[in-house]
Amino acid sequence: MNHEPRRAFVTGITGQDGSYLAELLTGKGYEVHGLMRRSSTFGTRRIEHLCGDDAAGRRPLRLHDGDMSDANCLVRLIREIQPHEVYNLAAQSQVRVSFDQPTYTADVTAIGALRLLEAVRDLQDSVGTPVRYYQASSSEMFGEVAETPQRESTPFHPRSPYGVAKVYAHWITVNYRESYGLHASCGILFNHESPRRGETFVTRKITRAATRIKLGLQEKVLLGNLEARRDWGFAGDFVEAMWLMLQQDDPGDFVVATDETHSVREFCEEAFGRLGLDYRDHVAIDPRYFRPAEVDLMLGDSSRARRRLGWRPRVGFRELVAMMVDADLELARREAETRHADQHR
Ligand code: NAP
Ligand code: GDD
Repeated sequence: MNHEPRRAFVTGITGQDGSYLAELLTGKGYEVHGLMRRSSTFGTRRIEHLCGDDAAGRRPLRLHDGDMSDANCLVRLIREIQPHEVYNLAAQSQVRVSFDQPTYTADVTAIGALRLLEAVRDLQDSVGTPVRYYQASSSEMFGEVAETPQRESTPFHPRSPYGVAKVYAHWITVNYRESYGLHASCGILFNHESPRRGETFVTRKITRAATRIKLGLQEKVLLGNLEARRDWGFAGDFVEAMWLMLQQDDPGDFVVATDETHSVREFCEEAFGRLGLDYRDHVAIDPRYFRPAEVDLMLGDSSRARRRLGWRPRVGFRELVAMMVDADLELARREAETRHADQHR
């Protein structure tokens, strides 16, 4: 009997989704290999708890230096690791930033996916090992939506350099599936959030600010378009759908969403409301946060994922906001205590 653990290679391991996926895979007994890019500080905050040895003295998560802009390094790592499953989560993922850094976004988010697919194809060709591949596609590809709700057949009309880059990554993945018979799937994921969400995304920006305002650490928060609507789910639920896609006999493309939509204004109302505050006393509009082109309405139809993968989200909108506010309140409390201690030193 073969007791070799399944090996997964995950790019974007240090990000929000990478951390939840690493937890899910290590929990299922996978040996997880994560790609980590070099920076002047150590960026493993979200995965530190997974970095040691387990009870049996094994190291379930191993980190490898590399970058999506370096094709040679991707080929070398994939050859060395010989993964059974590859999850491509790495991206310049901030939509607003993509307007200021469109070339960089295209290089990492679009061509990065192509580099990784080439490395996977190289392994399949040279060693003959079948590899399953997951591409982190995005609802941002629907952009100026052609229909509501958005489903797998809805045409793409991206509204940002990020969205355009994701459309390229999506179609090149489909193309490698059709051209080379690769078991490659795309998850068209709608917005998903958590206490580990990056602080520049609107949900986390709101929950960080609301909790700091509650404790007197800041007075107000500057936001852009409060009328934009998003289909917000919990990242921990969404990474399960990624894994399920790679367990199917046949690859495919799947919308993953909660099938509910809320505005940024409603998110503010709910988050400040949980703290007994009125968001109207603390939120100010700053045109700097408006985008050159906006995506006004996102609402998914995830019936294919529910039917074929047996997937469904567990955390609803109100629970998600509560989870994020409660975690950030704890952070703000610690910050307030440190400030207090510093003042009395
Ligand atoms: P995230 O928190 O921004 O994480 C992005 C990850 O990519 C980080 O680990 C980052 O590393 C890494 N990365 C960026 N540039 C890289 C490069 N040049 N080489 C290697 N790694 C690089 O994003 P997320 O929310 O977890 O999302 C995961 C994926 O799903 C992304 O592709 C995103 O575009 C896509 N997606 C997200 C959502 C959502 O709502 N969260 C929805 C649809 C699709 P550092 O830690 O060093 O920055
Ligand atoms: N970031 C941000 N900051 N967004 C703001 C602000 C603000 O101060 N004020 C209003 N918004 C609005 C944006 O204009 C947008 O309409 C909405 O809030 C959500 O913005 P983000 O949280 O930055 O997310 P996003 O929808 O643009 O992109 C996220 O979801 C995509 C899936 O649809 C990212 O995670 C992408 O990587 C992902 O693909």
